[in-house]
Amino acid sequence: STAPANWDRPLDGKVAIVTGAARGIGATIAEVLSRDGAHVICADIPSAGEALSETANKVGGTSLALDVSAPDAGETLAAHVLERHGGADIVVHNAGITRDKTLANMDDARWDSVIGVNLLAPQRITDALVAKGALKDGGRVVDVSSIAGIAGNRGQTNYGTSKAGVIGLVQATAPVLAKKNITINAVAPGFIETAMTAAIPFATREAGRRMSSLLQGGETVDVAETVAYFASPASNAVTGNIVRVCGQSLL
Ligand code: NAI
Repeated sequence: STAPANWDRPLDGKVAIVTGAARGIGATIAEVLSRDGAHVICADIPSAGEALSETANKVGGTSLALDVSAPDAGETLAAHVLERHGGADIVVHNAGITRDKTLANMDDARWDSVIGVNLLAPQRITDALVAKGALKDGGRVVDVSSIAGIAGNRGQTNYGTSKAGVIGLVQATAPVLAKKNITINAVAPGFIETAMTAAIPFATREAGRRMSSLLQGGETVDVAETVAYFASPASNAVTGNIVRVCGQSLL
């Protein structure tokens, strides 16, 4: 096989969707995919407001207000990319939420919202994109799991379950998508400084870093570069894999 013509811009001519792109890890993923040549459709919930258009402008992409947990989110996205771009090449399921509580106090609303956004949405959207023919031949699906889905984390039974579910989802979907020449992989970040982790009280965060599975750190760009690898021709033969991005200390 041949190497792509331009390794500096391996995603030239590609169309990428990034969910949860308004800020944090998603915004950096949008930047890195754009740097690599892709046109990036930055999707986020309507309440993300200005932050979403700021990211889209910064990366020279377009923005799309989309709640990934809406039942018809996949169909909406499929129609959007088919109409404007004739389909998409890459979809990154980065949108995610936490609703932490100790297990004894974990209520149904917290379970449902976290499972809905973090696990069901990636599944339904991928499914709809494929069913509508909106993911092109050679397509790439990248899911964002978490180290909390591998090692668990106190107060995050719902979140850890959703992120462990993403790993099962990726592994189960890979052989199905392989028949359509589409790969699906996941990145499992450790502790990354974003608005999501800033919501964790300082003492808990520091203790967590030292004592738990989340002790490892990393930057949003570390996660984004791994996503870019899964999106690029460099990973043509890689599917059904989970890569931890946890800084330099091992689990
Ligand atoms: P963040 O909270 O800074 O950003 C998440 C983005 O997703 C926000 O822009 C938010 O508006 C958007 N979003 C939330 N619900 C949505 C919905 N229903 N539809 C569309 N967009 C929605 O979070 P961060 O830290 O950037 O996390 C990004 C992903 O990485 C998440 O899936 C998270 O679970 C995962 N992750 C984060 C880690 C960290 O340490 N920050 C560690 C491991 C995984």
